[in-house]
Amino acid sequence: MTGRPRSGAWFAAEGRAGMIYRSWLRSEGMTPEVFDGRPVIGIANSWSELTPCNAHLRSVADAVKRGVWQSGGFPLEFPTMSLGETLMRPTAMLFRNLMAMEVEELLRANPLDGVVLLSGCDKTTPAMLMAAASADLPAIMVTGGPMLNGKFRGADVGSGTHVWRFEAELVAGRMTQEEALAAESGMARSCGHCMTMGTASTMACLAEALGMQLPGSAAWPAADSRRYVTAQSAGQRIVGLVREDLRPSQIMTREAFENAIRVNAAIGGSTNAVIHLLAIAGRLGVPLRLDDFDELARPVPTLVNLMPSGRYLMEDFCYAGGLPAVMRELQDFLHNDHIGVTGRTLAENVADAECWNRDVIASLDAPLQAPGTGTAVLRGNLCPGGAVIKQSAASPQLLKHRGQALVFDSIEEYHEVSGREDLPVDASTVLVVRGAGPKGYPGMPEIGNFVLPRKLLERGVTDMVRISDARMSGTGFGTVVLHVAPEAAVGGPLAFVRSGDWIELDTPGRTLTLDVSEDELSRRRAGWAPAKSPWPRGYARLYHEHVLQADQGADLDFLVGASGAEVPRHNH
Ligand code: FES
Repeated sequence: MTGRPRSGAWFAAEGRAGMIYRSWLRSEGMTPEVFDGRPVIGIANSWSELTPCNAHLRSVADAVKRGVWQSGGFPLEFPTMSLGETLMRPTAMLFRNLMAMEVEELLRANPLDGVVLLSGCDKTTPAMLMAAASADLPAIMVTGGPMLNGKFRGADVGSGTHVWRFEAELVAGRMTQEEALAAESGMARSCGHCMTMGTASTMACLAEALGMQLPGSAAWPAADSRRYVTAQSAGQRIVGLVREDLRPSQIMTREAFENAIRVNAAIGGSTNAVIHLLAIAGRLGVPLRLDDFDELARPVPTLVNLMPSGRYLMEDFCYAGGLPAVMRELQDFLHNDHIGVTGRTLAENVADAECWNRDVIASLDAPLQAPGTGTAVLRGNLCPGGAVIKQSAASPQLLKHRGQALVFDSIEEYHEVSGREDLPVDASTVLVVRGAGPKGYPGMPEIGNFVLPRKLLERGVTDMVRISDARMSGTGFGTVVLHVAPEAAVGGPLAFVRSGDWIELDTPGRTLTLDVSEDELSRRRAGWAPAKSPWPRGYARLYHEHVLQADQGADLDFLVGASGAEVPRHNH
């Protein structure tokens, strides 16, 4: 910290303004020393009972506060918007950018010198990182930690992953409703976020890989006392971070994103990480392309044996050594001199990390899956802006597949007929659902891994090639091509596929081809016009008018680009 802290513009002010700034805070019962120039630390808390994954964050905030006081800072906790993945309609993703915008403005508008970001559920972590990137105040993230392993009939049950499995079993008549209810009660048995390597766990790990969380933070279960130890440590450390004036823009560099992309490949992370990292990088002005995700990840094998790609859960990952053990194993692929919130290099941070269970975290010598089997980026006339497929969660025999399309204009249209015996479909059919991209739905819901047609499930079919402009849950699995860009709603080629067209997926060759001539596609395109937006007002209208495509992170166009901590002009 050079000179007086940023908060001094408020609390060291003289006259009427200074009196107002200090006096009203004194109403909370603060002693005058809090205004002596010590770093003022915001604790941005996305606690909400409507976000079950974040419902314990008030106690996490208490631990952070202890640490801030211990290190001579002045903590001030404040609520932020919260995004509950399971409850919000039409999809929590619609609001990620709104939350990011809200937190950014709160950070900039208030007398804060640094911030601890408390997040957990899927969208809350990227939203907070986007906000921190834009406001560029010293920041540490503390994710709330995963739930304890789910349990049902003596076996582990993974959040999300088993929901899809149980749904398929129910539809196929192999599971009763009573059994499903019993399974449901054992799935979420503690506070915390989904404990598979879904989007929440992925983003927690990537916040750590970017250098924005303390080493080891991502994996401590929410119910583990060490979750609170790490929170208190973050409270202690943020004060030092402010004094050193180490900011997100100095931590989340191109090298940090390269580390995060490679870590994502090793942990079998969510495809949603692609969109979120692109959005965060966009906020910083860090050049990052969709193709970087393929090129950088190709040499990296999958090491972490967690659902949905593998068999274990986050609790096991934690006890096996967590992310530091993975990053130590990956050192040949990482920028080891990168400096994160600890102020030390990555190499120093993980120097003592050990793996305690090679079944959960494999070694480079004997990886879970070979290099190049992570998330692949596809190109072709069906997705000129790109598309992604998570190979580790797909069926190997379908990664190269040619089949005839069966097309649906919405997921609702598919659901209406998916149970019908006369649905013209067999296991080789390529199911296409469009109208589910950023603008189309709106908000790009997680429907890409939609359940297979009933008649095929009953015949024992477990996977088919599915293509959409949607996302899929990080806990999902299957041979699903996602994030097709441009989406159908803006006139991407996906809008012009017809049932019966041949589609070729060649994942090893990284192509997705619609076997229809350019002339024919032009004929189909003639006269096409985007549908009129059904959102005449409010945030949905703002979103619809400004959201970028998936290959650009689906942020709002006017939020892209580096900003900073200063309020452009204020009159107080
Ligand atoms: Fe919140 Fe999965 S629903 S992390």
